[in-house]
Amino acid sequence: MSLDTSRPDSAAADHLPALDALRGLMRRYTTDHLVGVSPADFQARLTGLIGTVDSQVEGYDDPARQRDLSIKFRFGHDHDFGSFRLDGQMGERHLELLAGFADRLAALPMDLTGKRVLDIGCWTGGTCLALAAMGAEVVALEEVRKYASCAQDLADAFGLSGRIRVLPMSLYELTAPEHQDAYDYVIFAGVLYHLTDPVLALRLCFNALRDGGTCLIETAGIESEGSECRYEGAGVFHAGSRAELSRSGWNWFLPSALALRRMIADVGFSEGHVEGLSDNRLLAWARRDAHTDMLRAGLSVPQVR
Ligand SMILES: C[S@@+](CC[C@H](N)C(=O)[O-])C[C@H]1O[C@@H](n2cnc3c(N)ncnc32)[C@H](O)[C@@H]1O
Repeated sequence: MSLDTSRPDSAAADHLPALDALRGLMRRYTTDHLVGVSPADFQARLTGLIGTVDSQVEGYDDPARQRDLSIKFRFGHDHDFGSFRLDGQMGERHLELLAGFADRLAALPMDLTGKRVLDIGCWTGGTCLALAAMGAEVVALEEVRKYASCAQDLADAFGLSGRIRVLPMSLYELTAPEHQDAYDYVIFAGVLYHLTDPVLALRLCFNALRDGGTCLIETAGIESEGSECRYEGAGVFHAGSRAELSRSGWNWFLPSALALRRMIADVGFSEGHVEGLSDNRLLAWARRDAHTDMLRAGLSVPQVR
């Protein structure tokens, strides 16, 4: 397992050649490529979701204790639909991420024809669309029902019902046999630090991969030479306001590069690489050679495969 803590500038993503290729691929998702829905209805349906507030659909007992983003609908990633555009909360991050996995880590081919990809935490589906345009068959997980439904609607509207399946569920529920030993790639981006148990989560990613498959990880982290995780917790916010349901934060554990590298090894991956970027984000790949057992002592779900 290798580690690179030289922290190259994350803003240099703009110079990644794969980014231009991905921008080109996304041009197929404009309103003149819709299937079975008119551009006007499509636009009305999508823009009608922005800013809606709905905690009931998520089944929460106490909405006041829940993440703003899970209650108030925000679009995830920028999308130019040709006849209109939506600005996403995370800009072009979906494309920068995939370009980073392809160019920085050289761990994701741009041609995914014939590959099965699991996309964890897809928000409104920007990465799913990009991965499908690269040729993949995509299964995506999204724990927030309103986003899972929007991501599936987008895929359906572009005639991709057979190529993109969005499941409204948590990664922690990914135990059905159909998801075991099933994927060539797992995209696990922007999610690890939002989880209460990153070790269990990585084990579930490991279990979902086929032998020879690769997990691609991106996460917020901390700058430290040691093997450390910072506990942030549910009450720490970085921006936004409660009144507008726009607070950012909602993080649990943020690992250092070395801590992430150890977690990757501990859940069973045989090879891997973790790279720290300038903005305290970590990029990593981890390869599964074969399914092996892991240390059972202290596991939060003792019977996890
Ligand atoms: C910060 S966004 C990242 C979106 C996208 N993956 C990216 O990297 O740009 C995190 C997304 O993961 C979802 N999420 C968080 N925990 C999850 C879990 N346990 N299972 C499935 N989705 C989860 C959130 O609801 C949110 O849509």
